[in-house]
Amino acid sequence: MSFFRIAAGLICAALLSPAARSAERPPESPEAIKQRIGSGDPLAGKAKSEAELCQGCHGENGGSIAVGVPNLAGQYAAYIAKQLQDFRSGARRHRIMTAMSEGVSETDSNDIAAYFASQPPMQGVAGEANAAARELFLYGDVDRNLDACVSCHEPSGGGKLAAGVAYPRLAGQAKGYLRVQLLNWKINARSNSPQGVMNRVAGALTEQEIAALANYLSGI
Ligand code: HEC
Ligand code: HEC
Repeated sequence: MSFFRIAAGLICAALLSPAARSAERPPESPEAIKQRIGSGDPLAGKAKSEAELCQGCHGENGGSIAVGVPNLAGQYAAYIAKQLQDFRSGARRHRIMTAMSEGVSETDSNDIAAYFASQPPMQGVAGEANAAARELFLYGDVDRNLDACVSCHEPSGGGKLAAGVAYPRLAGQAKGYLRVQLLNWKINARSNSPQGVMNRVAGALTEQEIAALANYLSGI
């Protein structure tokens, strides 16, 4: 076997092994998957996400290919479409995504969102056990008036749709991305959550807790 093939094999093994270590998740019901995909057309969305170059950064199947780029696989379509709308309107700012979302029609957004939502949900690398982050996620902190993350993002971290609000999946999201978003909420560099809820939540967290939560959430 040539050196290159061995090297390629080692790289593949290194890439595959973390996923194998992640926690097993229970299978989802067809109803839950249908709700996640919404009314868009995933098949049309697959072609459109390729034509609009989304796959170049978010991966063919919604798995991020670079640091700082979020996974979209298995995310709620309603959440993806809302973010695209927010990038377009300026309610959420990001140099690349503002440009990428321009000129993507509402129908195309819904189809692209449906495609990424239809993919097997993102799964990160299980980090080291962190009891403090887990406590915050499950119970919040009454002394700081900090709501438990699970009250909105679900105990599985899989997110939900409720009363017209899309609570995004956090479980398995890229660690670096989660950390940056929580810091952005904290300093109000991102402020597109309903009633500023995430600014209030992240504002109560220390930078250390944010790093620990990002680490924890990416691995569940
Ligand atoms: C050149 C790389 C690049 C391309 C191409 C790109 N994105 Fe992104 N996308 C990013 C980055 C980086 C972010 C993180 C933005 C931030 O930090 O706020 C992002 C964020 C997003 C988010 C927010 C996800 C979340 O969890 O809140 C959505 C939705 C999204 N992109 C969809 C798309 C779609 C749809 C396309 C194609 C029309 C696309 N992106 C093309 C790099 C890219
Ligand atoms: C009262 C409800 C509520 C609580 C409690 C809450 N969140 Fe959120 N969170 C939301 C909503 C709604 C959004 C989507 C905002 C938007 O539309 O951009 C969100 C978005 C996020 C995002 C951005 C995800 C992405 O893909 O960009 C992160 C990260 C996040 N929450 C982490 C947390 C953590 C960690 C906690 C607990 C410390 C928490 N949230 C508690 C409602 C909540």
